[in-house]
Amino acid sequence: MKIAVFPGDGIGPEVTAQALRVLEALPLKVSLLEGDVGGIAYKRHGHPLPEETLVAAREADAILFGAVGDFDCDHLERHLRPEQAILGLRRELNLFANLRPAKVFEGLEHTSALKPEIAGAIDLLIVRELNGDVYFGEKGMRKTDAGLREGYDIMSYDEGEVRRIAIAGFEAAQKRRGRLCSVDKANVLETSQLWRDVVIETHADYPDVELTHMYVDNAAMQLVKNPGQFDVVVTGNLFGDILSDQASMCVGSIGLLASASLGERKTEYGTFGLYEPIHGSAPDIAGKGIANPMATVLSLAELLRHSLGQEELAQRVENAVAKALADGIRGGDLGGDSNCAEIGDAILTRL
Ligand code: NAD
Ligand code: IPM
Ligand code: MN
Repeated sequence: MKIAVFPGDGIGPEVTAQALRVLEALPLKVSLLEGDVGGIAYKRHGHPLPEETLVAAREADAILFGAVGDFDCDHLERHLRPEQAILGLRRELNLFANLRPAKVFEGLEHTSALKPEIAGAIDLLIVRELNGDVYFGEKGMRKTDAGLREGYDIMSYDEGEVRRIAIAGFEAAQKRRGRLCSVDKANVLETSQLWRDVVIETHADYPDVELTHMYVDNAAMQLVKNPGQFDVVVTGNLFGDILSDQASMCVGSIGLLASASLGERKTEYGTFGLYEPIHGSAPDIAGKGIANPMATVLSLAELLRHSLGQEELAQRVENAVAKALADGIRGGDLGGDSNCAEIGDAILTRL
């Protein structure tokens, strides 16, 4: 089994190191392919996603990704900025389905930004489209007729793109509690109207799933008011990005939310995928050794599950994280004082 490891920038290397300690402790034979991504890759190779990194990505059964983002690079032309590494990998590797689960861990009901009885009911999965939307449409800067600078980004989805993510949403709902909520802005956007039409058409193949629709502004409100109502949420790239950061604070911290980005390619052991915490490089705490690595360790669990076919090991890793939290282990993001390596130790002990 080959895993490509791309730690990236800021806290990326810190949290990835802890996930690798967990991986090494498992009874699995894996070889690691390392690669530079993001600002560090730009500084070393002149590009955020160097060719050799892409080669390693294609050779692997799965990718473990830390985070990218470096304020020093924010003045660069867009195609050279660190974020292009993750956008490029998602797009080049056709990883269109991004699964972002959010569940309250036992003992964390009081750490959520919500009231404990509301937070305690959270067990949802955001299925975020990852290859289209306003992220990948034509974009640029131009001048208006009046001579004003104007920035633009085209939002669009074709029906094929919507259908394949709708299928991912329905299939995820079938494996869970059988409810799918499609989130869009069909009252204003044509892109969303097509989205809604295609989701409804696709529903015909999944009569056992209960389908509802919600506008994204209401969804943001409902996520705080009564998040327990959601099972699977399927939504576009931009809305999914925003709602998943919001969901992280509903369960307690962005340092807890993992993700799996999947496409159609199968490997010898499962589905090829990229696994990363939903958070970024956190420049404000980078280098201090205080980041919470749990989101990355939980992303490793998703990797074991989807790409390596190791459901049992995935659950062992998840249980070790849950046990550490239940035992009161907390990073600074959860109001505690355990540092990154200590959280890694705590997970390993319980593993
Ligand atoms: P961020 O997620 O990096 O940080 C937001 C806040 O959450 C910060 O206060 C940070 O300290 C905290 N935080 C994040 N992860 C944490 C962890 N594991 N433990 C404890 N605290 C944590 O978002 P941002 O500040 O908006 O962006 C910083 C950089 O990261 C930007 O360059 C952005 O483009 C990039 N980014 C990258 C990814 C990615 O690689 N997939 C995701 C989001 C943002
Ligand atoms: C995420 C991040 C990325 C996104 C950025 C870094 C391109 O915010 O993975 O959630 O917007 O998808
Ligand atoms: Mn994001």
